[in-house]
Amino acid sequence: MAIRNIRVDDDPILRKTSRPVTEFNDRLFVLLDDMKETLYKSGGVGLAAPQVGVLRRVVVIDVSEDRSDYIELINPEITGVEGSQTGTEGCLSLPGLYGTVTRPMVVKVKAQNREGKWCLYKGEGLKARCFCHELDHLDGILYKDKLDEGECLYRADTE
Ligand code: NI
Repeated sequence: MAIRNIRVDDDPILRKTSRPVTEFNDRLFVLLDDMKETLYKSGGVGLAAPQVGVLRRVVVIDVSEDRSDYIELINPEITGVEGSQTGTEGCLSLPGLYGTVTRPMVVKVKAQNREGKWCLYKGEGLKARCFCHELDHLDGILYKDKLDEGECLYRADTE
């Protein structure tokens, strides 16, 4: 496994649409393993492939404190949402910045695993927020595009 460089700020790759994964091969497994290591090293809760410069529909997530809830989502799609939550969001690609974003409280996702099998996931609270945030990355969308009305990005040290 290897740590990959995270693309930040105005890197144009963050604004591109990622292509579906069609081959579940060693190249994909290396990408997934590297993304997992990069996620844990960075201390984030989610990472999407375009953030490491790969325009493929691949996301890794672990919102747990003890790193016990690792999920790999390949070709993910949101299949249902319920409720709403308003809270603070950050992104490894926008270091040091935060903003207030309203997202659904419950999100259901279907995605393939590394064997290509379709699986269903349900997230509530932070996990639901993370599903939405990471899937947006696959379409070139950043949370700063979705700030609540009247909100703007802020730096942690000005909180
Ligand atoms: Ni992000």
